Amino acid sequence: MAKIVLLEKIHASASELLKAEGFDNIVQLPTALKADDLKAALADADAVGIRSATHIMADALNGLPGLKAIGCFCIGTNQVDLTAAASHGVPVFNAPFSNTRSVAELVIAQAILLLRRIPEKNARAHRGTWEKSALGAYEVRNKTLGIIGYGNIGAQVGILAEAVGMRVHYYDIESKLPLGNARPEASLEALMSKADVVTLHVPGHKSTVNLITADRLALMKPTAVLINASRGNVVDIDALNTSLREKRLAGAALDVFPVEPRNDKEEFVSPLRDLDNVILTPHIGGSTEEAQENIGREVAQKLARYLKAGTTRFAVNFPEIPYLEKETKSRVLHIHRNEPGVIARMNADFAQAGLNIVAQHLQTRGPIGYVITDVDDGISSQLLQKLRGEPATIRCELI
Ligand code: NAI
Repeated sequence: MAKIVLLEKIHASASELLKAEGFDNIVQLPTALKADDLKAALADADAVGIRSATHIMADALNGLPGLKAIGCFCIGTNQVDLTAAASHGVPVFNAPFSNTRSVAELVIAQAILLLRRIPEKNARAHRGTWEKSALGAYEVRNKTLGIIGYGNIGAQVGILAEAVGMRVHYYDIESKLPLGNARPEASLEALMSKADVVTLHVPGHKSTVNLITADRLALMKPTAVLINASRGNVVDIDALNTSLREKRLAGAALDVFPVEPRNDKEEFVSPLRDLDNVILTPHIGGSTEEAQENIGREVAQKLARYLKAGTTRFAVNFPEIPYLEKETKSRVLHIHRNEPGVIARMNADFAQAGLNIVAQHLQTRGPIGYVITDVDDGISSQLLQKLRGEPATIRCELI
């Protein structure tokens, strides 16, 4: 059975799922490993699970010919050289959806706290001031939530917001199916001028840098609040700072910043630190116990599906083939350079061996081709050697 190495204290939900899928050779290591230690730990591993601190670059991949799959038990995949992994025939999986609910809940909590002016009242109470006043404090019921970026997180925020009685409007550059009673807005400007709460859920991309400028902030009602749990550089922080100090905006909640400390030893620097009407959180929108547990399950499931059936759906660097039930005696996973004639030669090899192909699924992505072939009989070691010896073959595995 395949050996799977899990590094960096990945949540126990991962090993539980892998064991339930029949993988009993699981090695768990508590920390990230560097170059030589990593190579030694993964020498006979079929798959590895990492979080963000383990780097798997081209050098490491060159020394790990037996490694078949990488699971990033997190959202980001910058710690892996995705192109090098693909060229070694190694799909990389991550967990893009496991923490959406955590972010969405935080946004709703922040909307309620900001409209009630709780951050200021909380700060003053800590300083000994008893400010018992209803002035400027509002319920969220019947208020308009403006969602910018109606993707996985934005749409979920909309559903939760309706549950507490908000009217949901959204703006997205793509046409999106509105969930519940949400209404699309034709422009960002229209959305920002009518919303009581504006919340940002756009991706990090050069087109979203400084999306929220001074001019756009000026469109917002003075009683409105801004929430950003997307990427730090989406908001012009100096412009936001000015709007808040000039009382042209009632408050803000920020979970992400243009410059974030790399660890808890570095000081967090922001012009907003002394503002009582701003909630500042250290990029923890998606950081909950539940999200960690979900991430463990989501990525472990993807690794198990790949090792057992060759499924690469949602791989971040690889041709995607969805889950296909294996109904024949043998399944061959063939990863090759995407060039003419590979499939024809491979199928001739099957025919020459007297094997009937029952099903075959091919996908390509850039320079990589991936084909799953189901045949109704056993595969000889000679045939496997022949397929592996084809000039365009990157990797060929038998399931
Ligand atoms: P997603 O890709 O599902 O949705 C993004 C949406 O924004 C898409 O519908 C897209 O069409 C839309 N969009 C792109 N450019 C736009 C623009 N200029 N104006 C309006 N809409 C635009 O992404 P998902 O998963 O919902 O994540 C959203 C953001 O949340 C990302 O930036 C992600 O990095 C961040 N995030 C933050 C976390 C935290 O801890 N604070 C945790 C998880 C995600």
